[in-house]
Amino acid sequence: MTNKTLTRFLVEQQREQNALPGQLRLLIEIVARACKAISHSVNKGALGGMLGDLGSENVQGEVQKKLDVIANEILLEANEWGGHLAAMASEEMEAIYPTPNRFPRGEYLLLFDPIDGSSNIDVDISVGTIFSVLKAPAGAESREIDANDFMQKGATQVAAGYAIYGPQTLLVLTVGTGVYEFALDRDMGSWRMTQANITIPKNYAEFAINMSNYRHWAPPVRRYVDECLAGKDGARGKNFNMRWTASMVADVHRILKRGGIFMYPWDARKPDMPGKLRLMYEANPMAFLIEQAGGAAFDGRTRIMDVDATALHQRVGVVLGDAEEVERVVAYHREHDAQTASA
Ligand code: AHG
Ligand code: MN
Ligand code: MN
Repeated sequence: MTNKTLTRFLVEQQREQNALPGQLRLLIEIVARACKAISHSVNKGALGGMLGDLGSENVQGEVQKKLDVIANEILLEANEWGGHLAAMASEEMEAIYPTPNRFPRGEYLLLFDPIDGSSNIDVDISVGTIFSVLKAPAGAESREIDANDFMQKGATQVAAGYAIYGPQTLLVLTVGTGVYEFALDRDMGSWRMTQANITIPKNYAEFAINMSNYRHWAPPVRRYVDECLAGKDGARGKNFNMRWTASMVADVHRILKRGGIFMYPWDARKPDMPGKLRLMYEANPMAFLIEQAGGAAFDGRTRIMDVDATALHQRVGVVLGDAEEVERVVAYHREHDAQTASA
């Protein structure tokens, strides 16, 4: 535990590590400030009229919660005027949001999931905000920004992170120099570092997957989970524990702190869709954090950050966490593919 503020950490990253251009530092400060405001809204709950549905659907056909829209507005308003962004994109908006002409335009692109795990809002379980930062392609400054400018692999991200609104509000961040955690100090109104250089603890036998989809999974995923369920009596020779919060932020946070694996794989409910989670503002930022913490993130076969981006709201299968466990799931996919190819 240190007392270092987020501001000081970012200044040091800029000065000593040369990891952080000034505009990116400003961007992260502003996202963090927006997350502070979202945290306040989340905490108001029923007393502030924050709970419940809005009565609308987003572009993905999901019911929008009031807080989905409130958090989206907070992020847009906080980030549009600073001069650091060329455009934003969000789970809650079909199209990109270019920086309005009345403000100076910067070189970065910001993508976010304003509230992740929205189904948990009304039952007071942790939700979060996920964000990813890309650089606009060279030459984009002299023309209109469009969605194609966002079509970059996750490997090009320059920063990523999430805020988690749980018993404490935390910000977990990477700029490519490790993973850092900050807690919101409500008395001071500032973010204070609570952990530096987070690495995923090894050998914690915990897996996170929505078991109710078991019958829809592909054989390699069933094989992995069957072996976990067989525990000491099965191929793994040890017992596993299971957790599923239905907030990716909370599940990924647990993995960063305690180890294990998280999966939302492709399943046969929607065979043409590669998965449920979204590549650009859920899977990519989490993959960046998980890799920076020594873990791995695959879609089952391909490294998530190497998946080609073709659409803003593109879906992807997600297998992430402890590198050895993820490699095992990938190996099961390879073995299965080899068997079906030779059959
Ligand atoms: P969102 O609330 O942004 O739509 O994301 C919810 C996601 C993710 O957080 C979670 O892991 C998953 O959906 C839960 O899905 P199930 O309800 O199918 O388990
Ligand atoms: Mn989400
Ligand atoms: Mn969401």
